[in-house]
Amino acid sequence: MRIGVLTGGGDCPGLNAVIRAVVRKGVSVYGHEFVGFRDGWRGPLEGETMPLDIQAVRGILPRGGTILGSSRTNPIKIEGGVDRIKENLASSGVDALIAIGGEDTLGVARQLFDRGVQVVGVPKTIDNDLSGTDYTFGFDTAVNIATEAIDRLHTTAESHHRALICEVMGRHAGWIALHAGMAGGANVILIPEKPFDIDRVCEYVESRFRTRYSPILVVAEGAHPIEGQMELQAGELDAFGHVRLGGIGEMLAKEIEKRTGKEARTTVLGHIQRGGTPTAFDRVLATRFGLQAIDAVHEGEYGTMVALRGTDIVRVGLDEATAELKTVPASRYAEAEVFFG
Ligand code: F6P
Repeated sequence: MRIGVLTGGGDCPGLNAVIRAVVRKGVSVYGHEFVGFRDGWRGPLEGETMPLDIQAVRGILPRGGTILGSSRTNPIKIEGGVDRIKENLASSGVDALIAIGGEDTLGVARQLFDRGVQVVGVPKTIDNDLSGTDYTFGFDTAVNIATEAIDRLHTTAESHHRALICEVMGRHAGWIALHAGMAGGANVILIPEKPFDIDRVCEYVESRFRTRYSPILVVAEGAHPIEGQMELQAGELDAFGHVRLGGIGEMLAKEIEKRTGKEARTTVLGHIQRGGTPTAFDRVLATRFGLQAIDAVHEGEYGTMVALRGTDIVRVGLDEATAELKTVPASRYAEAEVFFG
């Protein structure tokens, strides 16, 4: 078989580990051939390919980013996009596609499957917000980067008696904030799933200062106050209609300073959470996903996504996998709240 591989959406550590596993097993165990599509759905849409053989995947296991490149191109929004993809797949002799991506990339994969494309999905995102899988690779790396940052903020905050805010990614899910905040001993964690009460946040800040320690607040980029409490700015939209988030940390700092009279400063971790080498956990998960994805293609189980359930790698329908976002349940947030203030 000739199999196309692409990586779409925001990159994350572990993408190269998936590509390597797919190609290594595909070539050496099944004797398949591969072609890489560049920059997510832009590759099959514009027929932009690159060679993908064992030589091309040597040495990439620990490397961050993706050798295939990525983009947020949405072919469904482009007139005739799906037909162009089907034509380009046929003309490059591609029998099946492995699409590695988050909810947007896999949502497109599902629609292409409905229109006759033989596709298998692999979930990736630092946000860990895909409902079909217990974990996505990239998340553990992002949490470790954020935790290290929080540890560092603690020591400098103590020296200067400041409130320090760490803004993390995660889009509309608070998983990175919850895990990094818990691991880093944050005094307040704010997540999109639970609109925060700024009066309560300021009480936590003041109570922490009273213990002669400095408060560390972790805020997810998608967190927001109870309606009417603070004025927020609206961001731009991407090709999938998602708003570009960011800036809540700065707004929070200003509000805390205004209300408590204490100095509050913000560090936005941004794309640092997405770059660099994956943790061992993410390398193993990504490798196992890659192995299972090539098995699924070999067995003709199209329209599926590989997923982690407990410690097993299973296959779930792409429709089930992309049906809804996996957000932080109230009970998980309540565990973290025990340590607030
Ligand atoms: O989905 C991954 C993610 O890093 C989100 O946490 C964040 O909101 C978004 O991508 C940022 O996207 P971009 O890199 O396009 O600004």
